[in-house]
Amino acid sequence: NRESWLPTLKTDTPEEGYELAVKLARKAVGMTQPDEDVRKKLRVDYANNADSLTMASQVVALNFQTVAAANNYWTN
Ligand code: HEM
Repeated sequence: NRESWLPTLKTDTPEEGYELAVKLARKAVGMTQPDEDVRKKLRVDYANNADSLTMASQVVALNFQTVAAANNYWTN
């Protein structure tokens, strides 16, 4: 009975919400390509490619929209 990796979308601060958005993006990559050796091999490419990094940022931005909405934009 493994502990949930995503027990809640609620975070105390927007900054923690952004970290969750990054975590969601990285989790998707890990689920899509479970082979750590392959991910490490590909890391060199995307880490040195502006378009890859921009796309990664875009995925995080999309996740952040979801997390922010789930937290009522931290207005409460
Ligand atoms: C490292 C984010 C896509 C492989 C990292 C780090 C971040 C990150 C923030 C640095 C973590 C740290 O230094 O503690 C993302 C995001 C992605 C993405 C937001 C896409 C939305 C990918 C893809 C691959 C990959 C597509 C490979 C297929 C790796 C690996 C590391 C890493 C192997 C570890 C590098 C190391 O050990 O120094 N990623 N990443 N990532 N990423 Fe990604």
